[in-house]
Amino acid sequence: MKQFISVNDVSNINALVKQALAYKAQPFLDKHLGANKRIGLLFLNPSLRTRLSTQVAAQNLGMEPIVFNVDKEGWALEFAEGAVMNGTTVEHIKDAAPVLGNYFDILCIRTFPSLVNKEDDYSENIINQFIKYAGIPIVSLESATLHPLQSLTDLITIQESVASNENLKNKKPKIVLTWAPHIKSIPQCVANSFSEWMNVWGEANFVIAHPAGYALSTAFTKGATILNDQEEALKDADFVYVKNWSSYEQYGKVLSTDEGWMMTNKKLTLTNQAKVMHCLPVRRNVELSDEILDGPNSLVTQEASNRVWAAQAVLAEILKNS
Ligand code: CP
Repeated sequence: MKQFISVNDVSNINALVKQALAYKAQPFLDKHLGANKRIGLLFLNPSLRTRLSTQVAAQNLGMEPIVFNVDKEGWALEFAEGAVMNGTTVEHIKDAAPVLGNYFDILCIRTFPSLVNKEDDYSENIINQFIKYAGIPIVSLESATLHPLQSLTDLITIQESVASNENLKNKKPKIVLTWAPHIKSIPQCVANSFSEWMNVWGEANFVIAHPAGYALSTAFTKGATILNDQEEALKDADFVYVKNWSSYEQYGKVLSTDEGWMMTNKKLTLTNQAKVMHCLPVRRNVELSDEILDGPNSLVTQEASNRVWAAQAVLAEILKNS
């Protein structure tokens, strides 16, 4: 693996999940793999899980992580080619990225979309410029359109859950990604990425449910069954992945805050005692009810703790190939 930007950088998904679970069983299995290597974690946006789990993962591999909150502590970066920098930006990515490439062996970036300019966001302009100018392996900690470390974590959690449930062992699980209400305009990244991973993995009956106006880009959803009727989608589901996203069609807009789309215990009765997932942070009693988050069907804490093993498996693959 030379970089980790999307599922397309993974040659064998199940092997990567297996490696992650091996690290979960033995965190220090490869504690010398990253000796004398340094990893930079650049945050242009906030994070709790991604930031801390990736640091822990790097340290488990013997690497030294250095976190830099670019949004708060760095110079304002310019990404436009040919920009006349007489405004608020101070340093061009063409100048900053090669310097970072000399300080680190691997560079990880978190950057959110504008949710204003669809073309710009979906070109992945920011992370692509780090790839172009840093000259070292780049790992996405969530980009404008995707969150691949989250999706790998989600798949690890699903496979763990299947392995521990006799009723699921010899069947293709039904996995439903359902839109949920939110008060703010939220990126499509997690939903895009989860859809893409499910479709490439191909070992689930994958269904997406959302209200009208919330269709995701078909670049990520092709192969999925897509319904506007949540209750229909939830029937016999084994896993329900709850997530809000803003409209892709009317880009970045909040078209609905319909409380009727919040996942509740009543809706769980439609499912096959489904396990419920969410990437966190979650708006309690807006996206997901307390009764689910505090109940036995919730996988959210296990899912978040698996972020360490997902990051460790990815970093190990990159170290082995660099
Ligand atoms: N799920 C996730 O990416 O969490 P953070 O935003 O806290 O990193």
